[in-house]
Amino acid sequence: MNQQSPPGTGGAPLLAMTDIERVFGGERKLFGGHNPAVHAVQGVSLDVKRGETLGVVGESGCGKSTLARLVTGLDHPTAGTITFEGQDLGALSRKDRKALASKVQYVFQDPVASLNPRKTIRSILEAPLKHLTRLDADGREKRLADMLQAVNLSPEFLERYPHEFSGGQAQRIGIARALAAKPELIVLDEPVSALDVSVQAQVLNLLDDLKAQFGLTYIFISHDLSVVESVSDRVAVMYFGRLAEVGPAREVFRAPLHPYTDLLMRSAPAPGRHNLMSEDAAAELPDPYNPPKGCAFAARCGQATSLCLAEKPAPDAAKGTDDAHFAACHHPLAPAEAVKANVAPDTT
Ligand SMILES: Nc1ncnc2c1ncn2[C@@H]1O[C@H](COP(=O)(O)OP(=O)(O)OP(=O)(O)O)[C@@H](O)[C@H]1O
Ligand SMILES: [Mg+2]
Repeated sequence: MNQQSPPGTGGAPLLAMTDIERVFGGERKLFGGHNPAVHAVQGVSLDVKRGETLGVVGESGCGKSTLARLVTGLDHPTAGTITFEGQDLGALSRKDRKALASKVQYVFQDPVASLNPRKTIRSILEAPLKHLTRLDADGREKRLADMLQAVNLSPEFLERYPHEFSGGQAQRIGIARALAAKPELIVLDEPVSALDVSVQAQVLNLLDDLKAQFGLTYIFISHDLSVVESVSDRVAVMYFGRLAEVGPAREVFRAPLHPYTDLLMRSAPAPGRHNLMSEDAAAELPDPYNPPKGCAFAARCGQATSLCLAEKPAPDAAKGTDDAHFAACHHPLAPAEAVKANVAPDTT
């Protein structure tokens, strides 16, 4: 099930995931039986429209990076299909794969670790230009200068090594590398999580400028809801490898349908707000090797009934007031029950 176009982003999706799954392990053992299997991503159907920023949010281990690797072609789904501009990623020729690599780029979760410590910034940034473009030496030199300028780094940095950079600078280099081959879609995996708050703001502004300048589409992955809220047109909330809720960012943050989204929002640190995630930490996360039959969130959910324990809700079991807003929940929240309820009363 793929959702409709959000307002202002009509037309065919740039990227479409249909019922994708990625299972790790589960191979047959030599003397019978199977190795245990982890379902890192399951039953995910999601479209990305040209020009939008789709935020993907969820707790550590919910499958965000696995999804990013599938979308960028670094890994392949064990079931389901992913299409980019209508082309099935699983059926690409070698030549088409190269063309795809230049159109879809990945900014990695850890900025410093993603840069080879033995290579200068010049050779790190030149690699995609050599492999993914037909530029000659002069053309590459010009593009290198443009890339550095786009991410506000000085040209002297080209001859330095990754360890000579701060986290914020390293992330700019990661972004410059992603821009090298003039991509259409950039998957940003926790692009600011490793940075301090003032540098976060600089990198977020830079990403915003680059998006406008180069007409980019972003998938923006983060566990930080406030960052996702500030950058996204639409948001996908993941829990235990599945989509819990998808919708226009404004709607999801104003009136979450899924109790998990509500819990995430209430757990974001804010003055006068009681942190529920710390209370909830005692609750059991499902065992990835033995996933529950019903809704994976049921054990932590105040609304859970026997139906939730017995049956997985369909991804669009609950619908919001906006057509593009839906959630995988048997007992969605009414807007009045949502996040505002947890703000402590003003006692002054
Ligand atoms: N190569 C792998 N082999 C086996 N299991 C894996 C592999 N990669 C990921 N997993 C498992 O898949 C699940 C999802 O991992 P993933 O890295 O996608 O989570 P994440 O949401 O990106 O987490 P974080 O916020 O910590 O980056 C985890 O249970 C993880 O242990
Ligand atoms: Mg990750």
